[in-house]
Amino acid sequence: MTQSQRKILVTSALPYANGPIHLGHMLEYIQTDIWSRYQKLRGHECHYICADDAHGTPIMLKAQQLGIAPEEMIAQVQKEHEQDFADFNIQFDNFHSTHSPENRELASDIYLKLREGGYIKSKTISQLFDPEKSMFLPDRFVKGTCPKCKSEEQYGDNCDSCGATYSPTDLINPKSAVSGATPIMKDSEHFFFDLPAFEGMLQEWINSGSLQQEMANKLSEWFEQGLQQWDISRDAPYFGFEIPDAPGKYFYVWLDAPIGYMGSFKNFCDKNPNVSFDEFWAKDSTAEVYHFIGKDIVYFHSLFWPAMLHGANYRKPTSVYAHGYVTVNGAKMSKSKGTFIKARTYLDNLDPEFLRYYYAAKLSSRIDDLDLNLEDFAQRVNSDLVGKLVNLASRTAGFISKRFDGKLAKIADNSLAETFLAKQDQIAEFYETREYGKAMREIMALADIANGFVADQAPWQLIKQEDQQEQAHQVCSIALNLFRILVTYLKPVLPRLSQDVEAFLQIELTWNSLNMDMTGHEIVPFKAMMQRVDLEKVAAMVDASKDNLQVTQTQVETKSKKTDKADVKPSSGNPLEDDPISDTIEFDDFAKLDLRIARIAKAEHVPEANKLLKLELDLGGETKQVFAGIKSAYSPEDLVGKLTVMVANLAPRKMRFGMSEGMVLAAGPGGKDLWILEPHEGAQPGMRVK
Ligand code: MSP
Ligand code: ZN
Repeated sequence: MTQSQRKILVTSALPYANGPIHLGHMLEYIQTDIWSRYQKLRGHECHYICADDAHGTPIMLKAQQLGIAPEEMIAQVQKEHEQDFADFNIQFDNFHSTHSPENRELASDIYLKLREGGYIKSKTISQLFDPEKSMFLPDRFVKGTCPKCKSEEQYGDNCDSCGATYSPTDLINPKSAVSGATPIMKDSEHFFFDLPAFEGMLQEWINSGSLQQEMANKLSEWFEQGLQQWDISRDAPYFGFEIPDAPGKYFYVWLDAPIGYMGSFKNFCDKNPNVSFDEFWAKDSTAEVYHFIGKDIVYFHSLFWPAMLHGANYRKPTSVYAHGYVTVNGAKMSKSKGTFIKARTYLDNLDPEFLRYYYAAKLSSRIDDLDLNLEDFAQRVNSDLVGKLVNLASRTAGFISKRFDGKLAKIADNSLAETFLAKQDQIAEFYETREYGKAMREIMALADIANGFVADQAPWQLIKQEDQQEQAHQVCSIALNLFRILVTYLKPVLPRLSQDVEAFLQIELTWNSLNMDMTGHEIVPFKAMMQRVDLEKVAAMVDASKDNLQVTQTQVETKSKKTDKADVKPSSGNPLEDDPISDTIEFDDFAKLDLRIARIAKAEHVPEANKLLKLELDLGGETKQVFAGIKSAYSPEDLVGKLTVMVANLAPRKMRFGMSEGMVLAAGPGGKDLWILEPHEGAQPGMRVK
């Protein structure tokens, strides 16, 4: 397949420079990195650009707390971020900072063009001011009693307890979270960006673009609510860029943050004179620009950002791709459970390729949240990567080296390879459209075929028979050729493994050479390429994540986004607070669940599992086997004969101990505090719960 070379600029959101990278962030960088590596593998000119987001009140205050200059802190954090990304094999073409000369120049250029265009208005507003610190207080830095439910110690924008939203001036007995002083109201002039002036243009951009359906829907909702003027200035003291012609006024961090994409790209172009900044950003650019972001920052990227670009006479993004949030073991990442896992803590314990594969296997083009279930993670990686993929080579390579001088045979029957190659375009399409989960399933289905072939042919038996040497050579050569195709398909996801395989097969794995002929090709002896996920390492990672409780708790105080707050709170004893009600779903989503009453016919211990009980559930005509993680709270004899509720249509999952064909429903944080559901008397096994 020939395809003309595309020019692509791709970005991930710029992580804040006041905290460590965690596994939630990593979803985004892994998703983008796979896409960018895929484009490069196809031979396109693709530049993957990122930077640290270094401005704003939280960063200023954090540096003050640490007693160092903000410049020093952001430099330190940037170093750590870059190391984390490098160790996860995130291949940025450039990683810069929003606190850079390039960004300062571009921010002021864009602002001045917007001002010339008449899109900047000024207005005096009244805000809470900390008289002790002499600073205006962002909503998140005011605490007080909720005006609605009277809960104490609530933030200035919304109540954690009852969910009410309000403005900080509504709080009863407000206090500055910075100094503890009682804030006063104070007037100040602010600059506003005239977002409503761009409504027509934005409507058009949204309709013409390749935006995700969910995002387009969200945007129409915002249009219906009406677009507002956007406050883009902040008063000193602030860590950011001073606004031209306005001493003491600074750009709000979200003004210069997306411009940071351009700033980092400018910095890249200055180092690589063959890449032209204007070719990508000029109004008439024909290059493609994509932003990968999380669902919490859609507003900034799909309204403010294209409007700013348009108003300042630059091109707009080709598209913005949002992903959902990572949960761990079914709940928001939590310090107390040890599921708020830093990138570094993961790297100290586990192979980055495991997470790259697991996220890929679960990603789609939609904005759904993604659950990192640590048990499923271990099981999936072991079964797919170790059991299916690497095993294909480890079972066959030895014979080639020992018996056939390391040389591959001329393959007589190429039909399996043809089956594999027939999937090439489909897999390409899945990568292109960010349907990585579908790509992984397609690839693993092929791996199953290859393993089935090896198992049938049993080269370890052929090799023992004098007259079957040639057949053994054929089988192993076919297997390694199929292995080569599989690893090429997986190259965007597993860069380190691919590199090891290239060294082992002594070739470069490229998309254009997928159908190469390996006859007579010499390989080097096989070396172990991937260990199984060690469950003890997983447990150690969770433990180590609990240890950091105190340290990261202080970061919570200085974070400015609502969503981050709940992520990192220790358990409060209030279930709704620890685990707030999820996003609204439609009835159709609910109707997909088939919940049934089941009688627990048998319950047994599973000798090697310290958390599981094996249940036999009687649905009145059919029985299902379920492994349930409830051993900490129940003994088998407590359960036998009781009725409960099960998810009856969950895809069966192969576990180490056998198939699990559903789930029983239980509530509670875990350990002893776990309660399975039991219906009122009269319900019969098999009845649908609806
Ligand atoms: N600095 C802003 C982005 C500016 S872009 C011009 C920011 N930084 S962040 O550090 O809070 O988040 C960086 C990215 O990571 C965002 O896209 C965010 O959605 C994503 N994630 C942060 N936590 C996440 C999860 N738990 N799960 C998935 N993505 C998450 O926002
Ligand atoms: Zn309240």
